[in-house]
Amino acid sequence: MKLVEKTKISAAALALLALSALSAGFLEATPAFAKDTQQRPAVLNASAVAVADKYAADAAEQIFKEGGNAVDAAVAIAFSLAVTYPEAGNIGGGGFMTLYVNGKPYFLDYRERAPLAATRTMYLDDKGNVIEGKSLYGYDAVGVPGTVEGMWEAQKRFGKLPWKQVLAPAIRYARDGFVVDEQLAKRREDASKEFGGKTNFDQYFGDLKEGVTFRQPDLANVLTRIANQGAKDFYDGKTADLIAASMKGHGLITKRDLQEYKAVWRQPVEAKWNGYEVITAPPPSSGGVGLVQLLKMKAMLAPQFKDVPLNSPQYIHLISEIEKRVFADRAQYLGDPDFYKVPVAQLTDDAYLAKRAAEVDPDKPSDTKSVQPGLGTSMPEKAETTHFSVVDKWGNAVSSTYTINGYFGSGVVVPGAGIVLNDEMDDFSSKPGVPNMFGVVGSDANAIAPKKRPLSSMTPTILTKDGKVALVIGTPGGSRIFTSIFQVINNNYDFNMPLKDAVAAMRFHHQLLPPNTIFWEPYQPIDGDLAKQVEAKGYVLKGQNFNGDIQAIRIDGDTPEAVSDPRGRGVSRVIQ
Ligand code: DON
Repeated sequence: MKLVEKTKISAAALALLALSALSAGFLEATPAFAKDTQQRPAVLNASAVAVADKYAADAAEQIFKEGGNAVDAAVAIAFSLAVTYPEAGNIGGGGFMTLYVNGKPYFLDYRERAPLAATRTMYLDDKGNVIEGKSLYGYDAVGVPGTVEGMWEAQKRFGKLPWKQVLAPAIRYARDGFVVDEQLAKRREDASKEFGGKTNFDQYFGDLKEGVTFRQPDLANVLTRIANQGAKDFYDGKTADLIAASMKGHGLITKRDLQEYKAVWRQPVEAKWNGYEVITAPPPSSGGVGLVQLLKMKAMLAPQFKDVPLNSPQYIHLISEIEKRVFADRAQYLGDPDFYKVPVAQLTDDAYLAKRAAEVDPDKPSDTKSVQPGLGTSMPEKAETTHFSVVDKWGNAVSSTYTINGYFGSGVVVPGAGIVLNDEMDDFSSKPGVPNMFGVVGSDANAIAPKKRPLSSMTPTILTKDGKVALVIGTPGGSRIFTSIFQVINNNYDFNMPLKDAVAAMRFHHQLLPPNTIFWEPYQPIDGDLAKQVEAKGYVLKGQNFNGDIQAIRIDGDTPEAVSDPRGRGVSRVIQ
């Protein structure tokens, strides 16, 4: 069904489809995929992008100049990053897209799914212990990719340009090459060490070095087929055959897995905050629920935050207390809503959050066990995802985060296709209470099952005011994603920092486990007196080797301002 041209479906079939989707409880009540072709006047004086590298920014600029809208630009960005940002950009992974189109919010879930042959205990040995690395490296770690289907769905529904046209920049980068920058070269070197001997990574990426023009002919062929045949090639054509063949004897994904994959239009999480409408990611992301809980609880605790300076020891303490409660809920209640009833409304309900906020101890860290019992954890140094924020002059916005999870995903590259495959299976809870790569634990809600989507933290978010886009924001960072977005929103709106400073400012993170541990980042470490004062409050400080690079666009009046986090190699651009 997914690959059928929607225009060829009869009205009766459409009605039936909409009805069955509604009864399944996960699609929205709009007539499915009716393209809005109405010409609208421009409402902004420019379009804008904030993306992870300059090649993607160039691609978006080209698409805007050719008359494309935010969705066309976003799709061009996604395919470009799959070529020029191969550590995270992808067609072998999945993600989420929050959209605001012609004054209405939408959310597209193109997250990977567990293969049909996946089992709850697939990463456990015969003693019931988690087998280290099995959900992180090699074919076993791979979920059924969703990116191509996601881009196809989004572009088909809302794009203005022909599909082929939005793939053109990515095909050019893959065929003619692009010049490798220092950060990518370094990440590739690290990945070669990590995957060395475990996967075929070096056969494809061993030659990727700083300053060289890197070409990916196999990937160029795949992208050309996708341009000509649509998502069908990836899920039911030659590319599907190549993926299935690569898995034979190694992994679980079959051609049937690919044929049955579906991206899903879901209702976004929406909440009112500080005069804004927050439009953000619903389950299977935990991020939207987490972000709304953080924003609302902080607002409810305004008396406690009064005169507390940003990022002071007391501020760090109060935010950590809130985060403790958010992560307790995450571990217990969040999972794929198609498999597990996630109580989104209750978790974001004002009365519930007021009760949770009232539990915050203003003086000292509350006992971890009293919030949520759990185990200790560790955090391997491996993580990568990427985010892009786009607005067009018609006032439409796209906020999309997509991922292959770790740097270069599972390290497996599909022979003959050059597609880096994800290691998203690690986002499942392999065993209750045992932490994953990001140190977060889960329960039944996030146990492995065939076709289930692993719980995510990705939080592509849009804020609107009076029906107009005010902020488009997102970031990589695993479980740090929604605490990072929360901090930037706070810096910008509560502390009135200019967006650039709000993005660059120090960030910290607490996630219930390990107990009373606050993670700091190398970009702006918590050290010196601040560290001593935070420790004196009863916290343990721990460094993490990364933090997400936020990509944000703020609109004031009719003027967009775009900011890429200095932590990454992102480029933001306002395009007249
Ligand atoms: O979906 C998730 O939450 C993770 N797989 C995202 C991974 C990520 O952000 C890694 N980046 N630093």
